[in-house]
Amino acid sequence: MITHNDLLVNDLEQFLTENQVRRAVIIADREVCQLHGNFFRSFPCNYCTYPLKVSETKKNWQEIEKIMKFMLREKITTDTWLVNVGGGVICDMGSLSATLYKRGMHVLNIPTTLLSMIDAAWGGKTGVNMSKVKNAIGTYNNDYHVFIDISFLKTLPAKELWSAVGEMFKYALIADKNLWKKLGTLPTSEKMINMEMIPYDWIQTCIEIKQHFVLQDFRDTGIRRVLNAGHTLGHAIESLCANKNILTHGHAVALGLIAEAYISAKQRFLPMNTAKEIKSKILPLFPAPRLSSRDKTIMYHLIENDKKNNHGKICLPLIQEIGKCSPLQYTLREEILEAFSFLEESG
Ligand code: GLY
Repeated sequence: MITHNDLLVNDLEQFLTENQVRRAVIIADREVCQLHGNFFRSFPCNYCTYPLKVSETKKNWQEIEKIMKFMLREKITTDTWLVNVGGGVICDMGSLSATLYKRGMHVLNIPTTLLSMIDAAWGGKTGVNMSKVKNAIGTYNNDYHVFIDISFLKTLPAKELWSAVGEMFKYALIADKNLWKKLGTLPTSEKMINMEMIPYDWIQTCIEIKQHFVLQDFRDTGIRRVLNAGHTLGHAIESLCANKNILTHGHAVALGLIAEAYISAKQRFLPMNTAKEIKSKILPLFPAPRLSSRDKTIMYHLIENDKKNNHGKICLPLIQEIGKCSPLQYTLREEILEAFSFLEESG
């Protein structure tokens, strides 16, 4: 059985030597290339780099074609490892290219954002967007390893660190009451956050939780769906606010957790007092945008089209208690609209 320890690389040079990696193709976030020149200069094997300007709109099939044509030009063979250096978009796109190129290459993820260290670098999902559908094209790839170097976080904007905190709240709510308590020690504003406030053992805990669910359900048909807690309603908020560029992914997930805690309480999975406790802990850190009734209707329609729905019903994980979550539950229009209102009510 693969555990997260088997996948975690402790010493990069030793790992590359042990695996007889003579050449690597590095798919890298262009900004990371500029900020972390030393990392690339001292990369311990022969390599070529494909720098990519990262954005959600660049996460498309045309870019995958460009990556693969680059690899053909560079005469990359399948004994070359594909190394992703960047955040979630890079890990998803590079890994998709790796699974397709000449029927498969080994992957090493080197996540450079806190969010990708605790999420996208793990679990083997690859993908790009198509026709505005997020990750419409993708594969599952279990041929990957992860090397974590937290010195990349030194140049990460506070806003991005804060986004990862939103995902940390998710891990705490679905699986770890202790982490929930520890997160209570954080400042209440992204303006006061720095990486010293996020101990490495919190990162480790999140990875362990992710791997705990991934290893039971790699292809995401059951228990792994708890990792989507906060994401069904959160994605709708994120999409609604996308043009205004005001909410990070983690911020939207944090708001989604509050709204979904309300639905959990409405369905008597969770006492309403606990839903209120969740709200009182998360909302001061991640304030909700003002939502008009038109906004709520738009978000409901986005949720109706969520790819995780089953049999025409809106499917989402519901929180049972702090540290426990049930996947594959259902909800109704009324509950969703009320959940968005719950975000705005005081108390
Ligand atoms: N990010 C959710 C998953 O990997 O299943």
